[in-house]
Amino acid sequence: MIDLHTHILPGLDDGSKTVEESLDILRQLQKAGFETILATPHVLEGKDFLSPEEILASAEEVRQAAWKAGISAEILPGSENYIFPDMAKWLREGKLLTLGNAGKYLLVELPMLEIPHYVDQVFFELQVEGITPILAHPERYLSLFQEAERAIEWAKKGVLFQLDYRSVTGRYGSKPKQFAERMLSSGIIHFLGSDAHRVSSSDFVDQEALQYIRKLVGKEEFRKMAVTNPRRMIEGEILLSGGDYSLGDMPVKREKRKKKFWDWIRG
Ligand SMILES: [Fe+2]
Repeated sequence: MIDLHTHILPGLDDGSKTVEESLDILRQLQKAGFETILATPHVLEGKDFLSPEEILASAEEVRQAAWKAGISAEILPGSENYIFPDMAKWLREGKLLTLGNAGKYLLVELPMLEIPHYVDQVFFELQVEGITPILAHPERYLSLFQEAERAIEWAKKGVLFQLDYRSVTGRYGSKPKQFAERMLSSGIIHFLGSDAHRVSSSDFVDQEALQYIRKLVGKEEFRKMAVTNPRRMIEGEILLSGGDYSLGDMPVKREKRKKKFWDWIRG
């Protein structure tokens, strides 16, 4: 499997602080079944800007450390870019790092509480540059939860979506969990990522969350999200996008005793 979204480059953002910590996160993700892991540090416009050169150098350092430590997972460079109006211009100037440095896909993050007015324009301008925007963890934005039809509009226009698979455990609350399930069921999600910032307290979170999603969408669809789509993305291939999506209604009916996440896993 391929984890499209992690913060494993030491000291570059709010993720891992040391190479040792990076290796521990890698071991945990590898244990969950990830053989390829994209390092996607936060990139912000402004004084804390992180250049592609810095990211590439750090990814190389972690790759070598992992190799020496006997960790076989493949580590690829990338970035998680907080949206700003001049994104396409920066990309043209070589200031933003695409996923896998393959020059085709850019992971984009939105503010948590509001959808900026320039989002559609930025997505469009990136596409004009031949770049497919991938929206990071759509289920976690409160703004998008309230305006879910925006996600559908973007999907129809060819924007792709990366789910934070840990959302299904309820770790970000009930709304992101609900929204995650709704989007998974509608086929709008193309990729999975852990958004790992540090070693998580339980070894089981990843395995159980992935298993939960596999049960929800079926084996074939799961394989597309965890293996086929990200592999093709890294290789710079075009993924079929812009389908005729629609989001199902939010589940309103609940059983008397709510089925908990762990019950679900146990089947
Ligand atoms: Fe992230």
